[in-house]
Amino acid sequence: MKLRVVILAAGKGTRMRSDLPKVLHKVANKPMVEHVIDTARSLKPDAINLIYGHGGDQLQQAIAGDDLTWVEQREQLGTGHAVQQVIPHLKSSEKVIILYGDVPLLTESTLIKLVTASANTSLGLLTMTLAEPMGYGRIVRNECRSVTGIVEQKDANAQQLAINEVNTGIMIADSDKLKSWLEQLSNDNAQKEYYLTDIVAMAAQEGVNIATAQPDNAQEVEGANNRQQLASLERALQQRQAEELMTQGVTLIDPARFDCRGKLSAGSDVIIDINAVFEGSVVLGDRVVIEPNCVIRNSVIGDDTVIRANSHIEDAKVAKGCKVGPFARLRPGAELADEAQVGNFVEMKKSRLGKGSKASHLTYLGDTQVGEYANIGAGTITCNYDGVNKALTEIGDGAFIGSNSSLVAPVAIGKNATVGAGSVITRAVADEELAVARGKQRNISGWQRPQSKKGS
Ligand code: UD1
Ligand code: CA
Repeated sequence: MKLRVVILAAGKGTRMRSDLPKVLHKVANKPMVEHVIDTARSLKPDAINLIYGHGGDQLQQAIAGDDLTWVEQREQLGTGHAVQQVIPHLKSSEKVIILYGDVPLLTESTLIKLVTASANTSLGLLTMTLAEPMGYGRIVRNECRSVTGIVEQKDANAQQLAINEVNTGIMIADSDKLKSWLEQLSNDNAQKEYYLTDIVAMAAQEGVNIATAQPDNAQEVEGANNRQQLASLERALQQRQAEELMTQGVTLIDPARFDCRGKLSAGSDVIIDINAVFEGSVVLGDRVVIEPNCVIRNSVIGDDTVIRANSHIEDAKVAKGCKVGPFARLRPGAELADEAQVGNFVEMKKSRLGKGSKASHLTYLGDTQVGEYANIGAGTITCNYDGVNKALTEIGDGAFIGSNSSLVAPVAIGKNATVGAGSVITRAVADEELAVARGKQRNISGWQRPQSKKGS
């Protein structure tokens, strides 16, 4: 059977108090609706229909995919009315799964449970049992425990309000039945809305056996209507990711202070200290140590490398056995070969440090290629920018750059060459040469400091 996923994303989200449509608010730096779309994609559906209302342009700009069909719901007249908008798209004999753009933590595993539970029937509901069911539609069952309907909080009587099994909103239905049920909906209820949930009683009356499944975890079906709930979903997702990493053998010093906004893969015996933020795609080798307060984005860190506290690393490659930081900044195109080191207040951009080379303190390396086992002294600056153009610096194997030197690019420093401290180097230095380019020291004996003219 073909599979269609319908995602409801038309709500404005007034309580977000935002110009952004609700479903574009982010969890782990990814719009909520994109989480839902990605989970839907994991089931390899034949079609995904995105029902949008508010902020259609913003949505279509933010969310891409050839597999998405955009379906507009001009007025938000209820969840049933929202799903009615896809009737023209429905094909015969499809399974249709209904998801919500503001319920981002739903897992593939829970969806598979729902699909499996309802394989032999034309309607299945994802329900859960809550000690505090307030606000949710209640699942009504008869004496044989068969589902006979869903009653919304605002329409429920005292006896129904006492039911603890609630509707998560997520369901699966056969397209032909769904179409016929949707066409029969009315808005004759407390909220004057077309309730999707009313199809359940219709199905029961037709004698359909209504299947139910439960999510692995209640947080999976929570939505975000305000910033507080958004923050709580963020924490829940971070906790889930932290647990997965720990299960894989990563040490997180405090899983409550771990944030991954993207995809992190880690080798064995990796240690991640507090307040590390991982963004985009990050790969950590075996035995990598990440000290506190590091931000690492789209980077690869090799085995046995230590990233010391407060380092910021973006689009960089760090090989094995390196030491980075504390307070290092690796900008896009920074590359460290094995056993290279960058220390505090060193910034690198589009630059490579060869094997075993060091820049230990207060240095800027931009558009620079450094060979192996070179030493870049404290305060070295590659002057790679003349205000208009960028130029390259080359530093050979074993070179020693004295402290507080400026290397004015384009310039090349040869192998085993030495630059005297405080030099401003504007011309190439050959292999093995010493270059000193600074004012000569003069010592003047008997020199008097200026005296105050007022004589005070
Ligand atoms: C709905 C269910 C309720 C369930 C609860 C779970 C109905 C009638 N009730 O209630 O049984 O317990 O979800 O959270 O379905 N939406 C549209 N277009 C509309 C109306 C809603 O896209 O015209 C979207 C909203 O943006 C939201 C979702 O559908 O993401 C749910 O709508 P909402 O009105 O919040 O339903 P609930 O009252 O929470
Ligand atoms: Ca709701």
